[in-house]
Order: sequence, then C-alpha cells, then structure tokens
Amino acid sequence: MPNNMQFSRIIATGSALPEKVVTNHDLEEILDTSDTWIRERTGICERRVAPADQTTCDLAEEACRQVFERSGVDPKSVDLLIVGTTTPDLVFPSTACLLQHRLGMEECGAFDVNAACSGFIYALSVADQFIRSGAVRRALVVGAETLTRMIDWNDRGTAVLFGDGAGVVLLEASDEAGVLSTHIHANGGHANLLCADVGVSRGFKNEPGGGLKVLMSGNEVFRVAVRTLGRIVDETLAANSMDKSEIDWLIPHQANLRIIQATAKKLDMPMERVIVTVHKHGNTSSASVPLALDEAVSSNRVKRGENLLLEAFGGGFTWGAALIRY
Ligand code: ACO
Repeated sequence: MPNNMQFSRIIATGSALPEKVVTNHDLEEILDTSDTWIRERTGICERRVAPADQTTCDLAEEACRQVFERSGVDPKSVDLLIVGTTTPDLVFPSTACLLQHRLGMEECGAFDVNAACSGFIYALSVADQFIRSGAVRRALVVGAETLTRMIDWNDRGTAVLFGDGAGVVLLEASDEAGVLSTHIHANGGHANLLCADVGVSRGFKNEPGGGLKVLMSGNEVFRVAVRTLGRIVDETLAANSMDKSEIDWLIPHQANLRIIQATAKKLDMPMERVIVTVHKHGNTSSASVPLALDEAVSSNRVKRGENLLLEAFGGGFTWGAALIRY
C-alpha cells in the first residue's frame, strides 16, 4: 500500500567534470570575442570541455560512483534511475540504461528525460513522485551533458556559453521532510528561440555534423528567462506558504550571472546565499544545478535542515523549481 506520508530526502550528492579547461582567453584565439565581453555579459571565465572519447555516460558514471562511495549505498538497492540529458551517448538505448549496466544496478526502471537545461529539475520531480507514492524507496537522479559536442565553434553567440559535466543526487524515502515540492512547466510556443533544429525524424542537413548545433536568440531568451524564473519562484513559495526570507540558499541554473542576480534580487537574497559556479563551469545544461548543489554540499556551505530553492530554465521552453529541506 502506498505510504503517502513519505518524503524523498537527498542522502548524497556527487559530480564529475572533464579535465580540460578552456578559458575565455583560449576562445579569443579562435573567435572574434574578448574575455571582457564574456565576463561582463555572462559571468563566465572558463568552462570544461570533454575530449572526443569521454561521453555523457562516462561523466555520469564518475559522478554516480562518487555518490555510492560517499553514501556506502549498494547500487543494487536503488529502485529507479533517471538521467536528465539533451546530449545522450546514443539515440537508444538511453544513457540511463547504459549507466545502469555500468554501475551494476539490478533491473530497476531506467530512462532519460530531455527537457534541455531543466532536465535535472524534471528528473528530480519525477523521482520525487515515485518516492512519495511509495512505489520506490531509492532513486538516483542524474543531470549529465556534453553540450560542447553540439556547439558551432564559429558562432561567438553560443560557443562562449557552454561547458560539459555531470551531477547526481541519491534520494531515499524518509518520514523526515526532504523535497518539499517540485514545479515543472513548458511552453513550446517559442521553440525556435533556442533549439537544435535537426534530428532523426526531421533529418539532418548537408553540413558538417549534419547541422547539429545550438541555435539561440540570446537576447530574447534572456528576457523570457528572467521573467519566467521570477514567476516560478513566486509559485514555489506560495505552494509552501513560505516567505522568501525562509529560503537559506538559492541554487540556480548556471546560464548567465545576470539572470542569477535578477532571481536573487527577486528573493531579496544577498549573493553570498546564492551558489554560483557559472564562472568556472559555463552553462552545463542539465548538469548545472546538481553540479552547483554538489559544490555547495562538498564545501560545507549548505547544512542539514536548511531550505534550498533550486530552479532552471531552458530550451523548449522548459522551466521548473524544487524546494528542498536539506
Ligand atoms: N563576443 C563579443 N561580442 C559578442 C559575442 C561574443 N561572444 N556574442 C555576441 N556579441 C555581440 C553581438 O553580436 C551584439 O553585437 P551588435 O550590438 O553589434 O549587434 C552584441 O554583442 C550584443 O549581443 P546580445 O545578444 O544583445 O548580448 P546580450 O547582452 O543579450 O548577451 C547572451 C548575450 C550572453 C547570450 C545573453 O543574451 C544570454 O545569456 N541569454 C540567455 C541564455 C540562456 O539563459 N539560455 C537558456 C539556457 S540554454 C539551454 O537550454 C540549452
């Protein structure tokens, strides 16, 4: 019988990054751009780029092994595996299936979620519903990307923004408060403002790589992102009858420091209470929120019992938030 009183709690976090660091100065060598422009407009100083033989699944595996090592949990005891990714290793099997096998997990449900930069929040939301309903006891939730694989390195409007990485949380059913609520939304009406407009069914273009690249109207995306993240923050606080002063940490999607600052302002939060990694990771899409969370936990900034607000916005458009008692 489902136990509806259960919460899902984060029992461990983990992350992985490629070794190679690409600085803004490195990009100055190949693009008509400058370190000053990139830092002033985005907050990004450097990003990690995976070599050709390191895939999304490789990064996810490293992050998950860290979680199992830190928690002492046996991978075989996990009942559900969800990977948020827009850059899967293969069309199929899913990255989650490849990962499940590598980690030696039992035959638990395993699938990918594609919600662009909101992929981790979406995956967390799905896993939380499974645990709350009593259907599963432990769930591994991953955000992993190699987005630099689909960057046009001649396009200064996008090439300077993205990086690769993976982050993960292990959730467990608990009577104690953990994930308080999750909120996910989408609006496909402006799909053309942020997309990669080729694919299996529509076909590929007669261009290098089949024309697979990120296309973005940055300025328009920026405006919608700021407005939409403001709304999701209000929705999340209202759903929990919580005042913004009760949030201890904002852990936002790391696309642009100016977008992060706008959300912090909306919450009246000083930047010291905001976890920022965009300067060294760039935008790692689905991986960005769990990477930032792992950094916050590993550096002992986030403490047990504190309230965390996680949020993300990305292609689709998709957006979402999670309020968590850590
Ligand atoms: N270096 C130098 N100049 C540049 C660069 C660059 N890398 N890129 C653009 N410029 C130029 C433009 O050509 C333009 O020049 P012009 O005025 O002569 O035409 C000028 O800089 C201003 O361009 P804007 O696009 O208006 O710059 P903006 O201040 O909006 O910053 C940016 C661009 C950083 C992309 C910003 O709009 C942004 O962060 N947008 C949101 C991104 C985002 O949140 N995406 C969602 C998640 S991603 C996902 O889901 C996969």
